[in-house]
Amino acid sequence: MLTARPRGTSDILPGQVEKWQQVERIMRQVCREYGYREIRTPIFEHTELFVRGVGETTDIVEKEMYTFLDFLDRGNRSLTLRPEGTASAVRAYLENKMQAWPQPVKLYYLGPMFRYDRPQAGRYRQFHQFGAEVFGSHHPALDAEVMAMAMDIYRRLGLDHVELQINSVGCPGCRPALREKLQEFLRPRLPELCGNCRDRFERNPLRILDCKSESCAALVVGAPTTGDCLCDDCREHFEAVQKYLQTVGLPHKINLSLVRGLDYYTHTAFEIVAPEIGAQSSVGGGGRYNGLVEACGGPPAPGIGFALGLERILLAMEARGVAVSEMPGPDVFVAVIGPEAEQEAFSLVAALRRTGLQADRDYLGRSLKAQMRYAGKINARYTVLLGGEEYRRGVAVLRHMAGGSQEEVPLAELIQRIYKEDLVQVGF
Ligand code: HAM
Repeated sequence: MLTARPRGTSDILPGQVEKWQQVERIMRQVCREYGYREIRTPIFEHTELFVRGVGETTDIVEKEMYTFLDFLDRGNRSLTLRPEGTASAVRAYLENKMQAWPQPVKLYYLGPMFRYDRPQAGRYRQFHQFGAEVFGSHHPALDAEVMAMAMDIYRRLGLDHVELQINSVGCPGCRPALREKLQEFLRPRLPELCGNCRDRFERNPLRILDCKSESCAALVVGAPTTGDCLCDDCREHFEAVQKYLQTVGLPHKINLSLVRGLDYYTHTAFEIVAPEIGAQSSVGGGGRYNGLVEACGGPPAPGIGFALGLERILLAMEARGVAVSEMPGPDVFVAVIGPEAEQEAFSLVAALRRTGLQADRDYLGRSLKAQMRYAGKINARYTVLLGGEEYRRGVAVLRHMAGGSQEEVPLAELIQRIYKEDLVQVGF
């Protein structure tokens, strides 16, 4: 137990973490370009926020929530580790009175989410999402902009092959008609549906359309889809969104069975799929949620957003062989020989760092040979050899590790020398 992490979680180690940082850097950069600002909300929230926000009949709320059953807080309220970020963003929008900010409010977040599900490749119990949410506009161009932003992120990560699938899931006005038609179609097939879908038949029959079981998928062939029942408003909105997508040349596929696993969606729903990573191929998804702010106790306010799974993005990058830059070694390793040069070596490392160079030294009292071996292993660009004799003469030996050349340099000129060497190497 002491040396094993909980199932479905991972340690992101040095060597991997640089890839995460690179992905996160690109996400933040794209957000800046699109005018989104970061929000950091708590890792846990009151349970009812997710029940109300994500929806009572969703798999997330029914089966996957990490709810603290034994630890009610002092107000006797139940708390849950966040399974997603949209409900928290809505809560924060209302609690911080963002309706009074200039609209629309564009937010993004990056962080861990928690869902209790059976772990498999691409599905974890603690995973990380990048998400973006916009409040305060119904404009269909915003739907297209949000999708364009998601696709821009994939493109810059070297994943320009991923597929954008879109649909309109209607609104509370037109959904009851779809529900009814769907139930009518499915009723004779009810005994053949999987257990999950039999449960969904009364409470959330739309979800049956995207059941992953092969037999259910076969049974819903020919079923009425969202496209058959959209009201005029929803249809116009959906057509306008597609027109904007065409205007910016964003390829997309209409998938009329796309309903998504969260209850809050209205109008546009979309998913981004990378087939090469296996069964858990959805690398991102989102949509409009024009009723969610109100459902969470606020005044009516439209919203739209999406979230991308970082683990799945990294899996897709690996599967596509996208090169991620390795963390380079230090610029300078100071090898110190004998006690006399100790203090000087320590202050030399500090001086190197003050100029912006990445510098390190030996802290294990190793022999010169062992220190040189270590400098090679950590990929140092230069090694500075500083022994008692050099120290007394006010010099050090500067060794260029890749070329193997070395020269004696006055200590006072060492930093200048390294910068000059660098300029020579880049061709000045
Ligand atoms: P979601 O589809 O549940 O949507 O999750 C978004 C993405 O998170 C998925 O496409 C997937 O890449 C990743 N993901 C989900 N569950 C797991 C898991 N167990 N392990 C690894 N990755 C996972 C939402 O969460 C919505 N809040 C998206 C949204 C934002 N809609 C509007 N605004």
